[in-house]
Amino acid sequence: MNLRALLNLSILALGCLAPLAAGGSQEPSAQAAAAPAADKPVYAQDFEGDLGGWTGRSSAETLSLKGLPAHGGAQALTVSRRTATWNGPMRDMTNVFKNGRTYRIQFWARFDDGPENMSLNVSFQKAVDGQGDVYETIGSDMMIRGEWIKVDIEYTVPKDKAVTARKLYFETPWKPNESLKHTDLVTFAIDDLTITRIADAAPMKVRKDIPAFSTLFPAGMKIGTAIVSDHMNPENIHHDLLRHFNTLVYGNEMKQDAIQPKEGAFVFGKADALVKYAQATGVKLRGHTLVWHQQYPSWLFKDPEDGTKMASKDLLLKRLETHIKTLVGRYKGQFDSWDVVNEAIAEDGTLRDSPYLKIVGSDEYIEKAFRWAHEADPAAKLVLNDYNTEYGGAKQDGFYKEVKSLLDRGVPVTAVGFQTHIAINRPQVNDIRDAIRKFAALGLEVQITELDVSIYGDYSENKKKITRDILMDQAARYSALFKMFREEYEAGRLSTVLIWGMSDDETWLDNHPKTGRTDYPLLFGKDLQPKPAYWTVVDPAKLPVFVQKTDALRAESAPAPDADVWNTVSPKAIADRKGVSHGWFKVLWTPEGLHLLARVLDKTVDPSDALTLYLDPKNAKTPALPADALKVVLGRDRALDSDADGYRLAATVPFPTPAKTMMSVGFDATVTDGSTVSAWNDWSLTQAASAENYGTLALKPMPPVAQVRKGTPKVDGTVDPLWAEVPALPLTVETQGNADEGSTVKLLWDEGHLYALFEIKDKVLNDKAASAWEQDTVEAFLDQNNAKTKVYEADDGQYRVSFRNAPTFNGGQTEGFASASRVFAGGYRVEMALPLYAVTGAPDLLVGFDAQVNNADASASRAGIRNWVDSSNNGYRDTSAWGVLRLVP
Ligand code: XIL
Repeated sequence: MNLRALLNLSILALGCLAPLAAGGSQEPSAQAAAAPAADKPVYAQDFEGDLGGWTGRSSAETLSLKGLPAHGGAQALTVSRRTATWNGPMRDMTNVFKNGRTYRIQFWARFDDGPENMSLNVSFQKAVDGQGDVYETIGSDMMIRGEWIKVDIEYTVPKDKAVTARKLYFETPWKPNESLKHTDLVTFAIDDLTITRIADAAPMKVRKDIPAFSTLFPAGMKIGTAIVSDHMNPENIHHDLLRHFNTLVYGNEMKQDAIQPKEGAFVFGKADALVKYAQATGVKLRGHTLVWHQQYPSWLFKDPEDGTKMASKDLLLKRLETHIKTLVGRYKGQFDSWDVVNEAIAEDGTLRDSPYLKIVGSDEYIEKAFRWAHEADPAAKLVLNDYNTEYGGAKQDGFYKEVKSLLDRGVPVTAVGFQTHIAINRPQVNDIRDAIRKFAALGLEVQITELDVSIYGDYSENKKKITRDILMDQAARYSALFKMFREEYEAGRLSTVLIWGMSDDETWLDNHPKTGRTDYPLLFGKDLQPKPAYWTVVDPAKLPVFVQKTDALRAESAPAPDADVWNTVSPKAIADRKGVSHGWFKVLWTPEGLHLLARVLDKTVDPSDALTLYLDPKNAKTPALPADALKVVLGRDRALDSDADGYRLAATVPFPTPAKTMMSVGFDATVTDGSTVSAWNDWSLTQAASAENYGTLALKPMPPVAQVRKGTPKVDGTVDPLWAEVPALPLTVETQGNADEGSTVKLLWDEGHLYALFEIKDKVLNDKAASAWEQDTVEAFLDQNNAKTKVYEADDGQYRVSFRNAPTFNGGQTEGFASASRVFAGGYRVEMALPLYAVTGAPDLLVGFDAQVNNADASASRAGIRNWVDSSNNGYRDTSAWGVLRLVP
């Protein structure tokens, strides 16, 4: 059947519906009117006159106003003849940006010749007292060849008086001159640049009409937060947030420097106030922290006679004894738990090389600290607290070893604390669950002591604007975490979940670990209002629509309904809010349009039965409908075929202008079954009036698809005859550095497992590095529902095995996993059985997959990475660029 014939009269230009929407309450002007103070434009340049003070950063590049075609008007700022990645246009902006203020920087960028995509960085060159020029990248975006793309960056200028001048510039990602390719130095253009100072937010007020967060959990479960003493003052704007928590800790005010700033001169006022508050309200208390290598008074490690010398071991231990016994003794019976020793383990799992260890020489200081605390309050739970221990790896191993050794010596450690300062995408919830179980099995109480969920994936990520999407991703994470915490509490393995702060305006993660960056890791916002992270636990019906982000894969040409290419695409479910399925669709794209194949589940024939498709071609996501929006209605009468359960449809939704790889479009699909309507994305069913709640489809190339045959090999390190006929997938994608050539992976499947056989060429084997990924290891990445998501879901996992058969995990499920290895001259072999726990292996099932080899060199650092498909080196947190396996009989 000709798809174009199906593409029919029922395509409506949805833009014509826009006037309908204009009467709605979501109008942008209405929102602007509600804003307390206006944003203020502070700089604008359309390059229609002269260069306006913009110059090249070096003497090499040329700036002109008549290079690439303009975005608006007749001119744009073009930079050409670049000879290094850092070459680009720059202008002094010292008078534009003020310390402590937040700005929005918006402009258009374009390049016309070179690769398909190119990143553009926006950076500051700052003159800093005593340091000279300091460079700071404040944002970046992906340019698409031949398109103007809009870049939109929010940036808060840190309050740093040492910065005396600030120049803004544009560059492409840094590469050393030795490895420069011609295509790294594209000619690019900037146009219509505006900088706006964002107005201060409205005065903040806490809502009292919503459920207290802790009441959503079983009565005995401690759900707490970190506070400052002033929160207990009823006049404090945060005071009314306290009602959400049944357990409190001071974030700073009981640390060593706060309690004993001068030797012997204890300052108890604030701790007393906390105890009094707890007595009055019945909240439980944690004490933080008795021994730490930060926020200690300056005298602690010094020799009293000679301040340039370290204190003796005896003196330091005496000082700790006095500190601990005085503090814990004073509040005997008042604190449920004490963080006795904080952060004593280093990243590599050894004891942290702190002044305590330097002076005492062993973990004797830890042992004694626990014994003294126990003497002072035998009923208090005594905690060894640390971070990055809530997931597997060298640090957790070291932490475990230390805890076990203390227990073996009879030291009264009664609990472990996982700080759990985690990121929006890592570590995986399954890993945290495993950590809780592992330590609970030692007979210890497990506490989550400092939970927060940063919106940033790592330390180096640039400041980003908070969006609904990020808030919803964060909510999904909080939801999964608290579901798991509740289960572990009910199983008796976890007692406490304490969040490190109440509202985002006070998080310690603003400007930390990166200055200029703002974070939003908590349950309440910078405006003190409950965030999706709160609602997802308290009342999911109050959540806004979640925008699903997934990929549409490229087809060579418009596919017929029976084309085999449909078998390489996973279906997307159309379900109602209760999760009942009303069908699915598969989507492919060509420059001309989106191609769909859909199955509708609908047993009763009604005249209104239809599948309706909505397209927002520029992914504008505007509250009103953009003028170029399209709607396609496909009635049951257009079915390709039908049966008792429903019918199938095929359609093409045309793009108004030809689409390119990496572009994103807004899309939704609804099923009308008599009088009920269900949707792929917008369950609030506002599709016809607003594009805001459409899902997002990124237009991606078709990834490699490998067929995998059925078979159950023995996982024992020898090559089962079953493998003989299996084609080897090459590990040749050069993700990083060097590796011996010729490594491969073979795959088989059965109902419960995917089996991988890695044959690795490697002359120098080394597993001395602390991190497993820097040892000679292989990795399998598995996305069981092939959803190609930007963050790991519960079905996604990374399984790593060293040449010595030491496994490490990130996400996934360890139950059902098995591995074996063998070392040969010139290389090694690893076999893995990866559990299929979210799906059952069956012919035609599609799973997302990648394979990786990490090559360690003789010096125990990672010399190279090779993959089957994904060269982003991001596969540990993002499944979207992996290949696809199609299971065949
Ligand atoms: C942080 C506080 O929240 C900040 O206000 C302070 O500036 C630095 O310390 N691990 C810990 C906490 O054990 O004590 C730290 O608290 C966060 C990391």
